[in-house]
Amino acid sequence: MSAPNKSYDPVEVEALKPEEIERLRDEAIAAFAAATGLDALHEAKVAHTGDRSPLALANREIGALPPAAKAAAGKLVGAARGAVNKALAERRVALEAERDARVLVEEAVDVTLPYDRAPRGGRHPLTTFAERLMDVFTAMGYSVAEGPEVEAEWLNFDALNMGPDHPARSTQDTFFLKDADSVVLRTHTSGVQIRSLLAAAEPPVYVICPGRVFRSDELDATHTPVFNQVELLAVDEGLTMADLKGTLDHMVASLFGEGISTRLRPNYFPFTEPSAEMDMVCFVCRGESVGNPDRPCRTCSSEGWIELGGCGMVNPRVLVACGIDPNKYSGFAFGFGIERMLMFRHNVEDMRDIVEGDVRFTLPFGMEI
Ligand code: PHE
Repeated sequence: MSAPNKSYDPVEVEALKPEEIERLRDEAIAAFAAATGLDALHEAKVAHTGDRSPLALANREIGALPPAAKAAAGKLVGAARGAVNKALAERRVALEAERDARVLVEEAVDVTLPYDRAPRGGRHPLTTFAERLMDVFTAMGYSVAEGPEVEAEWLNFDALNMGPDHPARSTQDTFFLKDADSVVLRTHTSGVQIRSLLAAAEPPVYVICPGRVFRSDELDATHTPVFNQVELLAVDEGLTMADLKGTLDHMVASLFGEGISTRLRPNYFPFTEPSAEMDMVCFVCRGESVGNPDRPCRTCSSEGWIELGGCGMVNPRVLVACGIDPNKYSGFAFGFGIERMLMFRHNVEDMRDIVEGDVRFTLPFGMEI
């Protein structure tokens, strides 16, 4: 019977020779030292400590050793791997510190440098005011309608009960186009209302029409040949002047504050019947300057009222021109100029300031959206 085989010569495994393990250890440490960045260090880490690295493979060989040889070999490889991991960790700390120092230098922001001095500008109050106005009406269900600035004479005049010989046709200071027949630079945005009526198969039609209009005026403190208008049109069954008045009151209260209302004074427009001039309560003195010399009001010249624009019930002849039965439907309309509205709303004293586009004028109005 043979005794347990305890005394044998350990098999010399090539990969586990101390010189070889030390060489692998030194090779790994040298590779980490040679890595100049964190990416390179990661590659060296995979090569020298990964599952397929020579030291990991050597570690695996230990299992195949006879029991008596395992402890010494384990110690040898363990010490080498410990040294490698320590070197790796130290190199990583060093490289991270280097990177942080570099980032601090390269990405430093000098907060004392002058900032971007390109001026920001401001949205023009004509735009922001028109948008505000659109908001009031879209909230009530109106659609915004726009049309061309060069308009057919028929849409600018004829359909609005201003035939070729109608005296009102000459009161609008029209620009005619030199080489084109029957077109004009629109004198109001009423043509857009006609377009909306023609486009609708059948009322109801509720539209608000903002846009640039043209009249042959000289540019001065209170006139400009190009200005902006907002006109409104509602056509439905059973609309009356009370609806017009309620709409106007709601508009001025929304734009100028609770308690500001409107009044109507008889007037004449070919496209509305009856027609009226509309005034609003002065939003500065609310009428208190009237007959009160101690409290004069510059905004309304102490009249208590500010003139807004024209309005009225749509003339049945306009409805007929658009193929709408005036016995079934009625409508109301109004229109006013936005520049004028801005002048009294913001105490702008000269119309030229509004049209010249100087940023020093728009900036104080800020970035109201
Ligand atoms: N279209 C008229 C103008 O430009 C304004 C207006 C519109 C008047 C609607 C009454 C009704 O002068």
